[in-house]
Formats: sequence, C-alpha cells, structure tokens
Amino acid sequence: MDNCINPSAHIADPDDLDNNPSTAPHLQDLVAARLSRRDVMKGSAGALAAFGFGSLALGSGLAQAYTPPAGQTPATFLDFNPVAKSLADSIMVADGYKATVIYATGDSLDPAVLDYVGDGNEMTYSRRSGDHHDGINFFGLHATAGVRDPANSSRGLLAINHENISGTAQFLHPQGETNLAASAGPRPESEVIKEQEAHGVSIVEVGKVGGDYATTKPSRYNRRVTARTLVDIAGPVRGSAHVKTKFSPSGLTARGTINNCGHGVTPWGTYLTCEENWAGYFKRNAGDDTARTQRENTQLLRNGLRPNSEGFAHRRWASVVPADPMSTDYSRWNISVLGATATDDFRNEANTFGYIVEVDPYDPLSRPKKRTALGRRANEGAWSSRPVAGKPIAFYIGCDSRNEYVYKYVSQANWNPLDARRGGLATGDKYMDRGTIYGAVFNADGTGRWEPLTLANPLVAAGVLPSANNPDGYQFQDLADICVNTRLAAGAARATRMDRPEWTAVNPFNGEIYITMTENPDRGNSGNSGNNVPNPPLDAANPRYWADPKGVTSQGAASAAQRGNVNGHIVRIREDGDDAGALAFRWDIFLFGAQAKADVPAEDANYQANVNLSGLSANNDLSKPDGCWFSSVTGILYVQTDDNTFTDQTNAMLLAALPGRYGDGGTVDVVNKAAGSPQAAVRAAGIDTTVRTYAGRKMSDATLKRLFVGPLGAEITGLTESPDGKALFINVQHPGENTGRSGAVPASTALTPATLNGPFESNWPGNGGYGPGGATARPRSATVAITRLDGGVIGYDPIRRITSA
Ligand code: FEO
Ligand code: CA
Ligand code: CA
Repeated sequence: MDNCINPSAHIADPDDLDNNPSTAPHLQDLVAARLSRRDVMKGSAGALAAFGFGSLALGSGLAQAYTPPAGQTPATFLDFNPVAKSLADSIMVADGYKATVIYATGDSLDPAVLDYVGDGNEMTYSRRSGDHHDGINFFGLHATAGVRDPANSSRGLLAINHENISGTAQFLHPQGETNLAASAGPRPESEVIKEQEAHGVSIVEVGKVGGDYATTKPSRYNRRVTARTLVDIAGPVRGSAHVKTKFSPSGLTARGTINNCGHGVTPWGTYLTCEENWAGYFKRNAGDDTARTQRENTQLLRNGLRPNSEGFAHRRWASVVPADPMSTDYSRWNISVLGATATDDFRNEANTFGYIVEVDPYDPLSRPKKRTALGRRANEGAWSSRPVAGKPIAFYIGCDSRNEYVYKYVSQANWNPLDARRGGLATGDKYMDRGTIYGAVFNADGTGRWEPLTLANPLVAAGVLPSANNPDGYQFQDLADICVNTRLAAGAARATRMDRPEWTAVNPFNGEIYITMTENPDRGNSGNSGNNVPNPPLDAANPRYWADPKGVTSQGAASAAQRGNVNGHIVRIREDGDDAGALAFRWDIFLFGAQAKADVPAEDANYQANVNLSGLSANNDLSKPDGCWFSSVTGILYVQTDDNTFTDQTNAMLLAALPGRYGDGGTVDVVNKAAGSPQAAVRAAGIDTTVRTYAGRKMSDATLKRLFVGPLGAEITGLTESPDGKALFINVQHPGENTGRSGAVPASTALTPATLNGPFESNWPGNGGYGPGGATARPRSATVAITRLDGGVIGYDPIRRITSA
C-alpha cells in the first residue's frame, strides 16, 4: 500500500489551504465599477433614512438568536477595562469578569461512562465530549418541563462543534497514536473509533448551580453526533449519482459529519454544524486519476483531492483491519476507484461531506440532515438573516481557503413566524431544501452583487471556461451538480476571490453582515500558491499586503518577513433595501487587523498610514480574525482570533466591538509597499501598488477592547450567550496543538511511551485546576463560561456599571 503521509501534513495549518484555480478575469467588475462612489453613498443615505437604526420589521419573539428583545437598545459603550496581551499558559479575562471551564475534551456526558482521567485510557467517546470545540449555541429549555423555552437562561442545551484532532490526537491515546507512520502496520481499530468519535457535535444540558453554569448529567438530551452517526442527505443532491456509495447505493444516507467548524442557528430552533476541511480526511491512490473521468478529476482537484495523496487529517484510518470483516467504517476513507461501479466502492464518499448539517438539539432521536441545497465547500459557518414575515430567509456562508468566495443561500419559501414555534427538522425541510445559492462579487467602487448559481445565470450556464489551470473547463449538468461543485459554479459566476472568508455575523439591530477575512499570504503573489493554483492581485475588498517580522514562538521559528495580508480584515455588507433576498449590496471594511506599532520603528510612519488603517492600539491590536458573532441583547460584536502571525506577542484572543454601521468611515487609498509583496519580482523592481478601498470608522480604545486571552497554542472560537446576556460561552480550541512540532518553545515533546509527562506546549486547563493532571496535564479543548462578578449583562448593562464609560 502506498500510505505516503506528507511529512508536513501535521505542521501546516489545515485552514491554510488554497484550492482555487479560477483565473477568469472579472469582466463584470469593470462594468459595475462605472458606478461612482458618490452614487453609492447617496443610495446609502437614503436607505439609512428609510430604515432607522433598529426599526426594521422583527421576526417572531421566539427567534431570540436573531432579534433583540422588544425595547432593547444597543450598547453605547463597552463596560470593562481591556486585558493586556499575554503569552501565559492560562486564560485571562477583564477585571470584574469571571471565566469558568465547564466542558472539556473527554468529559463524560453519561453517569454510566467513567470520568475523564487524563491518561488516554478513556474510551466510549460517543458518550464524551469530542475534541477541538468550535461553533456553539445555547438553546433554552423550560425550567421543569422537557420543552423548548428560548427565553430561559437557567437551563438550556449547548450544541458544540468538535472540529478536528489535528495536533492533539496524540493526547487521546495512552502513548500517542499507534502506527501513524506511513510504513507502519494497521492503525488499531479502537484508536480510530475514538478518533472518529472525537469529531462531530455535542448536545449537552447545562444549568445554573449556585449561580454558576455547569453541565447536567444524566440528561435525556445529552448526545453525540460523530463521524460514525447515520445522517440523511436532503435537498437536490439526495439520491443523485454524486452520493451513491457501497454503503448507500440509493444515495439517500451517509455516515457522519467531520471538521465541524463554525455554526448557525435557525429561526425555528435547530442547530447548523458546518463541515469545513473535510477534504483533509481522504486518501487517493496513485493512478486514481486514470480511472476517473475528466469531470471527476476536475471536481476532485477543485477541492484539493489529488491522486497519490492523503489529506492532513487522514490519520491512516483506511489502514484499519476491522474485527467485523464486513465493516466499511475505515475503507470508506480511501476514495480511489477500486470496484466495478460507484456502488462497489467509496469513490463518491467525499461527495457526502462539505455541507451545512441541520441537527435538532431538542430531539435526541432525530437523524441529522445534510442540507445540500446550501451548497458544498469548506464551510466556515452559516448565519441567518433576520427573519422577516413574508420574506425569504438568507444564510451567509464563508468558504475558508485562500482565494475562496463569500456566499449566501436564499430560501424559496417566505418566512412564516408561526414556524418559529413549530421547530424541528420538518421546518428545515421547508426552508433549507429549496432555494438559490449566490456568490458575492465585490466591485471596486464599494458596490457588490450576488450572482445566482443556477443554470438560469448565463455565466453558470456557460460553465467554467478552459484556462491554463483547468484546460478542459467544466459544464454543469443540473442543480445537484452545482450543489456538489459549488466552488466551480462560483468561479464560473466570477465571484470575487477573498482573503480566506471565515465566520459571518448579522447585526440583530440593523441586519448588516460582517465577514472575517482571516489572512492571505498569497494575496498579490504571482503564479501558483503552495497548492499549485493561481493567486489574485490586490483589489478593493482585499486591499493590503505588507511585510511583518515575527520572533520565535511556541508555534515555531522566527520569520524575518511574513508577507501578504498578514493579519486579516473584516468586511461589512449592507443589503440593498435591507432585503436578505437582494441581488445587490454595498460594502466597506469594518476592521483591519494589525499590530499597534511596526516591529521596526523606522517603518512605523508608513505602517500607520497604510497597514494599521483602523488605528489599533495596544489595547485592541489583533491578528487573524476568525470567529465573529453579535450579542442579540447588547448588539456588541465579538471577534475571536486564530493566529499564528502575531503569536510572538500574544496568544489568541476575544475582543468586543461597538459595530458602528456601514458607511461610517470613508475612502482610503492604501499604498502597498513593494517590500510586502509575496512576489519576488515586485520586490526586486520596487513597485508600490496603490489600491482604493472603503474603510469603516477608525477604532478607538472605547470602541474595540480585548476581553479575553487564551492559553498557549489555542485559538479562541465559538460564541453564544444565555438569553439574558449575562453569560457568554466561548471555546478554547486546541491548546498545546504544537506539542512536539519542530521549533516549539519552550521545547515541547510529542507524546510517546518515553515522554508521558511532556513537556507539552500547554497544560491547560488542568494547570488551572480543571480536571486531573495539574501542572503536567495533557492539554484539552474546552468550553468556558464568562460571567460578571456583579451578575450584570456582559459588556454593557443598563443598570450596573464596572467602568464610568
Ligand atoms: Fe475551522 Fe476556518 O476555521
Ligand atoms: Ca510582527
Ligand atoms: Ca475558524
């Protein structure tokens, strides 16, 4: 067998993938660019006058994740003093606030399953917390009855994504992973079962115990959805040839969900778990391309599934020799053509992943549904528009890979507020199985449009035109084809290649949409990226590259000059007419990530003028925004980071922002110095590039503040609140993930039979007193509840005050 694992596979950030071969010129950008910025601003002023702040029609009062309580007004200031940057292996939260770990990797959900002991001997992860906590949502439960109560803060269900085990799989087993090396024997089945069950979703009941939140067991709601759970395929792809496998010759069902990253919540009270880097789990044999049609090879390559390769997360699951010789739980991770037909092997298995998956947290027996109508991509999250009676529902979706697109899905059905009460997957059938996917085009003049990904769109009907990277082009056959190969369709529609779109968030007070662009080292590069695909030039919506030095960190060696879009930015969209179904929008850039000061003092004047465009200070400077989410109680925008470029100065963090509104800044001409170009020829020629963009208002220490900093090696992700706004639940993902990686400082040791006590990059949360292990504990991902010592609303309480303003 050719189990050649890429030696760098466990070092690379799995998000730092780039599989977009689209090089087609954005011809329609040139047409749209004729519109003047002045016209845009006039239109905006009209829209703002017509729809005063917070005056839009609200949905049902039960849909509290979307609409603020009646009479609620947005926060006017951020009521805490900012936390300093930190490189400590602990969590830091603002004075007057408390951060409490409540649910960590391996925690038992069931009295029949032993408590976590921290030595890797824990089994039955189907009844324990999975790893790599990510998206999260609080679903209220009635205080005593077993029914939904969206307004109750004292009892609820947390739905939590468990994205991955990259960097931390070693800690799941007593002495690390057995037979991981390419030439080793089969992986033990028991280890692989545990790894598969460490993925997916937790549904865990929580309640207040003496004023603090804690998980509840037993609870009839406590449940795990894993990579092994039976799921339904719903929508246009259901039953199509794309998803017929040896397991499901009918193409109606599939097994499991993986790489569950960001999340969404529907107005009818279900959870959306979003499959992101699913392509990393599969193996293709050498020569598999010769057994495939050109169409199939184009589809696979567009998602990074090359012949003779394994993804970063494959972990040799396909090598297991199962106790049950009829089991295909392992062989399915090899998607090579091995049988006579598609129902004799798993050549189509990868087509069963990459979707938005709907889970009903209130019904533990319900079978999750893959909502294929929303399309297939590296989904970060899927956030709903505010539901408006008689109007369609939109879901905004980022596809997180370098140079990928922003999308929305618009339901065919119009919102009926009574559906907020009915709830359940049957309501999902109504809104999420029939609708239209759109790709976003960001024009140079600050306008934008949504290109429908349907055969009725001439651009999509024409297909992907032949190019150097895709010499055969690609023709779409039907809607199912578009829903499976959504990236290809968005490329055909000339959607704008962006700097890694991550989370989307919708302002509950005015409906504006925020989308994080976490970074892009290849922005402005020539030729092909590390994934052998072309890179786009600077443009108005992705307007920066620069050079930034980084010192040695716990993630690895120093870098004299990180280049490209090093620290990311956040784009803001206002739909025309504030209509979620609009075909046009306006955009600006809410926030530019940056350090407060250039590392080289002599370069700071240019840095302030052309990089630190939001005017960040030591109290709010940040890198690589990833999670973003609005409190429906206060209207505060929370921003979370997943960083590896600013980590010589700080661990990843959570910040709070007053969001302002579209158009609250102005036009900026960004001078991108040649030294920041990823392209050596540009640097050698000394060519500076000026790009006009549209910035939101500058930040101040009053409008953007750091609330929380995490431990070593972690990203901060996932955010939800209790309905009263008095608790935030966030996730600390993969502390210690660099353990044993080359260059890690302090020198950490991969977990092996000889190194059971480390040192590991992180020992959190055990070193903070949660669970066993203390100062030498194995690191664990965990959910953290943030509350105020005075019991007030997080960030801004109309009655209680921590600071004077
Ligand atoms: Fe799972 Fe793009 O972060
Ligand atoms: Ca730096
Ligand atoms: Ca993310």
